[in-house]
Amino acid sequence: MSSTTNQTVIAEPPAPLTVGAAIKAATRRLSAAGCDSAGLDAELLLAAAISCDRTSLHIAPEREIEADGQAAFEELCARREAREPVAYILGRRGFRHIELTVDRRVLIPRPETEFLVEAALGLASGSRVVDVGTGSGAVALALKDERRDLVLTAIDISAAALAVARANAERLELEVTFHQANLLAGCSGKFDSVVANLPYIAVLDGTQKGNALAPEIVEYEPEAALYAGADGLDLIRRLLKQLDHQVSFVALEVGEGQAPEVGRLMRAVSFAEIETICDLAGIERIVVGRRG
Ligand SMILES: C[S@@+](CC[C@H](N)C(=O)[O-])C[C@H]1O[C@@H](n2cnc3c(N)ncnc32)[C@H](O)[C@@H]1O
Repeated sequence: MSSTTNQTVIAEPPAPLTVGAAIKAATRRLSAAGCDSAGLDAELLLAAAISCDRTSLHIAPEREIEADGQAAFEELCARREAREPVAYILGRRGFRHIELTVDRRVLIPRPETEFLVEAALGLASGSRVVDVGTGSGAVALALKDERRDLVLTAIDISAAALAVARANAERLELEVTFHQANLLAGCSGKFDSVVANLPYIAVLDGTQKGNALAPEIVEYEPEAALYAGADGLDLIRRLLKQLDHQVSFVALEVGEGQAPEVGRLMRAVSFAEIETICDLAGIERIVVGRRG
């Protein structure tokens, strides 16, 4: 008979995970998954997981993260690793001076669209402006936030997107009227100014896969917010034809290389004065048309 000794093995407690180490490891992981702003993403997700702001992460990188914070961070990192956009994970996105609630029902507002708002800031007092294809409400709400005297209406074909936009308007206490419509169908004679960031991605080779778009866009953002025919201009063409003589100002966001054709389309419906505004990457991004 063999004798055994009873030894109690005491497991080593896991080494505490610090803020600095967590960010470093997550940055490596997200970068390996192809996220091009891995460091920033890791910081934003950690700040959300442990309920602090990004600045405090930098102030105290040696701070230890509690077990529940670690578990929450792991969950957020796994979603980002699957290429879900940070704005959908956090459920919010800053746009000009406001913060919008966003989810997969709406396109995530982009920094270049802020120039569309800027293009309309010089409108005459009391102008009646319509934002066509409002999505989260970004353009209409930011414009109302900065120009309370304007009368704002926002249109979208998607009832789901309008629900998000309405909730944003309510939370931000901004007065905008929302309508579900196909472009301006049924709305003639009501506006003197039109702003729109409509879908403008071309459907290349008859498929939506012809464009080398990031997985964040193709797999997560609403398809109805992206594509517009063989050259990407189907919706813009239709919208311009709907503008009656009362509309004296139109500002449209366009894709790279589309500005000259959109300027031509505006001239064809008698907008004599055309201006193009470039985004921060130097791309002609907003085309503005004015007529007497
Ligand atoms: C590129 S997203 C822009 C959303 C928002 N304006 C922004 O800049 O973040 C385009 C929006 O247009 C809407 N849309 C697409 N086709 C439309 C149509 N025929 N009439 C009205 N809205 C349309 C989509 O539902 C989507 O919300």
